[in-house]
Amino acid sequence: LDGVLVYTDKFHYLAWKKMADRIGVPFDETINNRLRGVSRMDSLEIILERSTRKYTQEEKEDLAEEKNGYYKEFLKKMSPADVRPEIRGMLKELHKRGYQLAIGSSSKNTKFILAQTQLTDDFDAISDGTNITKSKPDPEVFLKAAEYLCLFPNECLVVEDAASGIEAAKAGGFCSAGIGDANSADADYRLEKLSEILTVVNQ
Ligand code: G6P
Repeated sequence: LDGVLVYTDKFHYLAWKKMADRIGVPFDETINNRLRGVSRMDSLEIILERSTRKYTQEEKEDLAEEKNGYYKEFLKKMSPADVRPEIRGMLKELHKRGYQLAIGSSSKNTKFILAQTQLTDDFDAISDGTNITKSKPDPEVFLKAAEYLCLFPNECLVVEDAASGIEAAKAGGFCSAGIGDANSADADYRLEKLSEILTVVNQ
């Protein structure tokens, strides 16, 4: 979802930055790049590596909630226009060719983002931050997605923008395609544009 179908990276960055600035912890784009595909609480742990003080579990939960509040303000402004027409066309074409489509995302905001961008009906199953206990590179999120589709991992293609996602796909026995940052990762297919999936699935 994030970084593949919609570009929410910048919202995550701005929201974490606002929280980090408030508590005086240095945060920049380099740290932000480590957060791709990583759950909210695990992301917070990475950010707090630079903190000079320790936080209790309760304080950490409050910080994660604070960040999510800022993040959701950005998400509320998202609309169907945030999904490029060629991406919508590609999803429809994949369905036409008989493929099933599932979301495999660490985000607990997945359903909200899909609703805002009117993508919900383009997917047969959703596996997201609300049904997993382990973050990528653990394969849980994809194994659940395959299970919801009643498919074996070796019948699926995972499309990822995060290196940790490609690692998760491999660990779960899935074939993988990398885009963006994950284009240089250890993926079976490297995509310049998402619409190239249509060529990959025909092979
Ligand atoms: C995606 C993003 C991560 C984010 C995670 C949790 O995987 O790539 O940057 O931390 O979702 O998102 P959430 O919306 O639950 O805070």
